[in-house]
This record gives sequence, C-alpha cells and structure tokens, in this order.
Amino acid sequence: MSNWITAVFSPTGGCSKIAAAIAGARMGARVDLCSPVEPQSLPEGAPLLAVVPVYGGRIPAIAAQRLQALQGNGNPAIAVVVYGNRAYDDALLELKNTLTEAGHQVIAAAAFIAEHSISRSIATGRPDAADLAQCVQFGAAAEAKSTGNPLSPVEVPGNAEYRPLPQMPVTPMVTEACGGCGMCARKCPTGAIPLKDPRSTDAARCILCMRCVAICPRKARIMPPPAQAAFDARLAPIASEPKQPELYL
Ligand SMILES: Cc1cc2nc3c(=O)[nH]c(=O)nc-3n(C[C@H](O)[C@H](O)[C@H](O)COP(=O)(O)O)c2cc1C
Repeated sequence: MSNWITAVFSPTGGCSKIAAAIAGARMGARVDLCSPVEPQSLPEGAPLLAVVPVYGGRIPAIAAQRLQALQGNGNPAIAVVVYGNRAYDDALLELKNTLTEAGHQVIAAAAFIAEHSISRSIATGRPDAADLAQCVQFGAAAEAKSTGNPLSPVEVPGNAEYRPLPQMPVTPMVTEACGGCGMCARKCPTGAIPLKDPRSTDAARCILCMRCVAICPRKARIMPPPAQAAFDARLAPIASEPKQPELYL
C-alpha cells in the first residue's frame, strides 16, 4: 500500500469522513487545510489526496491557496469535492486546475455528497453506507491508476470561466450561552474570530463555513435565526432528490 498524503479542508467533518473512507489504510501524512500550510515540496512519487467542500459551486479560496503551498513535482493526485446535494458546478474543475498548477498530475477525481453544513436537514445522514462503499471502490481504482506509467490524466466537468465566488450575507452570531472559552477562535479556518474577543466575528474574513457553530461546546454560536430560516427555505427544494457520487477515472 502506498502512503497517500491527505490534504483536507473540513470545517464540519463531512469531507474528513469521505477522505478517510477513500484513503483507508493508504492514509499517510495529513495536511489540515483549515490551518495555515507552510510551502513545501512533496516527496517524490507520493500521491496526494485532496478533499474540499463545494461553496457556491466553487472551492473555498482559502483551501485553494493552502493547496498551492503543496508542490507536486509531477506526482499523481486525486481530486475530490464534497457537496450538500445541490450541485458542484465548477468546483471539481477548479480543484483539478489548482492541483495541476501546483505541479500535480490529477489521475482520478470524484464528487461525493455529505450533509449540507448550512441546512442540516439537507442530505441528512450522508455520506451513508452506500456512499462510503463507493469511496472504498474509488480509492482502490485511484490507487491502481496512481501506479500507471505514464500517468493518465483525468477529465472533469466544469466551466473554464468559473462561477463568481459567493458573497456571504451574514456571519454566525453569539448568544448569552457563550463562556468565552475561545475554542471557536482557535479553530476558525480563516482567523475571523479574535482570540481576545471570541464574541465578535470579522465579517470580511468569515466564509460562513459553520465550523464555529458545529464545534461550540455550549452551542452559543448560531446562524442568526432569520438567516437560517431563509437558507432553509431556499435550500428545501434540493432535499427531495438524493444525488449520487460521480467518479472520474
Ligand atoms: C458557505 C457554504 C456554501 C455551500 N455551497 C454549496 C453548493 O454550492 N452546493 C452544494 O451542494 N452544497 C453547498 N454547501 C454544502 C457543503 O458543500 C457540504 O455541506 C460539505 O459537506 C461541507 O463540508 P464539511 O462538512 O467538511 O465542512 C455549502 C456550504 C457552505 C457552508
């Protein structure tokens, strides 16, 4: 089994589940894209598995930036996006292009589904057992392709002119339950919550990834209720038809 370097941006855990199932025992060094990444050249031949969520049909800009710090030197890479049952639009192409620009050869790609991190009633329970079984199969097929000589690149869908990056209309708010422990500030992927004042949020940095809401031990960080209701109403129609994983090999 080869040792896959696994780079994951997973504010609320869906991408981590998918990454673990795809890599299985191949999982080697982990790069947490929710934290700053030092520029580095990856060891010769080491495959990279990159797993990131879809935000507004794109990949989060900060995840793309941090992936660019991992120089591939022609190594094989596996590109995976995870989305909340709406659509992945240009995200898989953007991820493939990001990895290619950083010197990787993308030999396998996939789009998987996980619970929608803004509206948890969408794709509830995903990835389910059938999704995880497909992750395992995909991992085995990607491993077989990663040892090919020469490596054969994969084509993925998406528009070369990506959708515009989403602008987030709100930030999470803090209720009286906040004990000021600062966990949200330490774990915020974009540094949008100051450690000295964890009750505030820098709207210019917040990407509404929902990590602070998901991890707060007192559930004191929440989406403002009117915004939550608006998101739920807008997203409700996408709940009815479960999407299936799409694999590109
Ligand atoms: C700001 C934001 C934008 C999102 N945009 C999309 C989208 O365009 N399409 C979609 O199907 N899901 C979308 N989602 C849902 C996430 O892609 C999905 O929940 C993903 O599993 C989150 O990964 P995580 O659990 O590792 O944080 C969005 C979620 C957030 C927070």
